[in-house]
Amino acid sequence: MAKNFKRYLVTSALPYANGPVHIGHLAGVYVPSDIYTRYLRLRGCDVLSICGSDEHGVPITIKAKREGITPQQVVDRYHAIIKKSFEDLGIAFDIYSRTSSDMHTQTASEFFRKLYDEGKFVERTSQQYYDEEAKMFLADRYIMGTCPKCGNERAYGDQCEACGSTLSPDELIEPHSTLSGSVPVKRDTKHWYLPLNDYEQMLREWILEGHKEWKSNVYGQCKSWLDGGLQPRAVSRDLDWGIPVPVEGAEGKVLYVWFDAPIGYISATKELTPDWEKYWKSEDTKLVHFIGKDNIVFHCIVFPSMLRAHGEYILPENVPSNEFLNLEGDKISTSRNWAVWLHEYLEDMPGKEDVLRYVLCANAPETKDNDFTWKDYQARNNNELVAVLGNFVNRALVLTKKYYDGVVPAAGSLTEYDRATIEELSQIKASLESNIENYRFREALKDAMNYARIGNKYLADSEPWKVVKTDAERVKTILNIALQITANIAIAIEPFMPFSAAKILRMLAVDHFEWDSLGAMSLIEAGHTIGTPELLFEKIEDETIQRQLDKLEATKAANAAAEVKAEPQKAECTFDDFQKMDIRVSTIVAAEKVAKTKKLLKLTVDTGIDTRTIVSGIAEHFTPEQLIGQQVLVLVNLAPRELKGILSQGMILMAEDATGALRLVQPSEPVKSGSMVG
Ligand code: 2FM
Ligand code: ZN
Repeated sequence: MAKNFKRYLVTSALPYANGPVHIGHLAGVYVPSDIYTRYLRLRGCDVLSICGSDEHGVPITIKAKREGITPQQVVDRYHAIIKKSFEDLGIAFDIYSRTSSDMHTQTASEFFRKLYDEGKFVERTSQQYYDEEAKMFLADRYIMGTCPKCGNERAYGDQCEACGSTLSPDELIEPHSTLSGSVPVKRDTKHWYLPLNDYEQMLREWILEGHKEWKSNVYGQCKSWLDGGLQPRAVSRDLDWGIPVPVEGAEGKVLYVWFDAPIGYISATKELTPDWEKYWKSEDTKLVHFIGKDNIVFHCIVFPSMLRAHGEYILPENVPSNEFLNLEGDKISTSRNWAVWLHEYLEDMPGKEDVLRYVLCANAPETKDNDFTWKDYQARNNNELVAVLGNFVNRALVLTKKYYDGVVPAAGSLTEYDRATIEELSQIKASLESNIENYRFREALKDAMNYARIGNKYLADSEPWKVVKTDAERVKTILNIALQITANIAIAIEPFMPFSAAKILRMLAVDHFEWDSLGAMSLIEAGHTIGTPELLFEKIEDETIQRQLDKLEATKAANAAAEVKAEPQKAECTFDDFQKMDIRVSTIVAAEKVAKTKKLLKLTVDTGIDTRTIVSGIAEHFTPEQLIGQQVLVLVNLAPRELKGILSQGMILMAEDATGALRLVQPSEPVKSGSMVG
């Protein structure tokens, strides 16, 4: 590490509490930040990992309105879900707080007040969009229109999700209110602005000259913002959900969510420890913000300007930010429910926490957008975790149990091949450390897995199961080395797969190894008795993957159905027209396919008047067995017609949804056949 820091403060972007966390969030922010902090803890560093729910902002109030509940109820629900799912995945924050806490309200208010008192804000009255029907100003997501950059017709007042541009409501073409749909008018309103332009020079020196080592996506975005010239940015909004602007004459105004949210890192640290100032106000602290790429400007331009305006806080040393993760070739989307939700994954795939952590890290969108597919998930589990890591650990432990009753054998003299293997293993630590310290977690994971790859090759080449028949002494050396490699694996994989690391320790009957001892070939003493070997990972079968794919297919179908508008209403009919139709509750008593057709079923129907035949084109939707015994509604006085030589006397009524799926229309409870419908 270039500079010698005494302590680390690691923050992970505060997720909005308007929905659960999905794999995109995990791959982008939380898995990397957890690997980083676990590594630092293992190295014995003084490190705090901070996170919490971001509970203000318009998306939360919109959700509350839609569901007819209060914003507080929305955030209470999702805060609990998110917090638990992080814990269950082993994301080991030191604190997971929330921005609706009193501590945060107080901290953010004081922060604003200090800047206000010191004249760091510009106060401006300007014309902003107002919805006369809903009687409110339309901040951020309360207004929609066409994006001036890409033409997307559903761009929001703060951002276009199609092209990722940051927008202001004034830039939208043909804006309309998302509350009433009406075209808004302009009205005067007063707000406070942080003059980012005053911090431009500081930001140029600090980032463009001082942090050339930042990831190119982060550095590049900062450069383009700075080259474009910074403007004052409003830090308040006309809303009724948020932290009230703590000055006289600001009734009905709250802090902008992007002003209060990053202060959440500070309030959570305050909540965690009375020593919080040491972490935030000392140049000896290395502050690292883990974020998604849509958060770059707020963490690299806006928040640092706020921190500088305040004057007492340090700036981040790095802001590692990933690109986006797609799902099965499509952009992850909360509104379209196109996601693998963490809390659902944990329920559907019990005991597979590390598999998800592994796949998301191995496939992390570190330098470009990447795709998560269930087939890749399965392949990585079966071919890498089971076949390489699990297989090696299992062979080392099972053979020790079998040959030595679980007592670690002593190594004898080493062969050239043993020495070469040990030498190769000793190279990994430096690379692993450098990769983690430089936020290259995919490479770091490959390094950790290399212990198992090398171990597997060592066992395959040494063949202790054959040698045991001819040279029992040699096998002792082989298994001693295999067990030392297993112990190394337990250390190396802990940041990535903590549950599996703990399981290996349990199976080795060891409490703990020091990170510094990584690479050593004397981690387990001869004579030590290991525990009971168990499988580290299990093969994932096609059916399990298919269930997940089916779930996504169902989402696709539901989205397609939601997108298709209902057919327009048909031409008017009179009451007399309607009266002509004789519709009866009927019971299907027999059903069979019509030979040589794909679509037709021949149904025998008890209409209460008679038992008759109806030919219906529903064979692709129902099997005969599904229909026999069902009550249906039949238009009995439809003129008979012949279909494939069978006389059809009536029509069964069906409901067809937008995807073309058919459902029977049935009475809610059994009714006597022949009952009239009308
Ligand atoms: O993009 C988001 O999900 C934001 N809630 C991140 C906030 S990060 C921090 F500033 F609090
Ligand atoms: Zn756009």
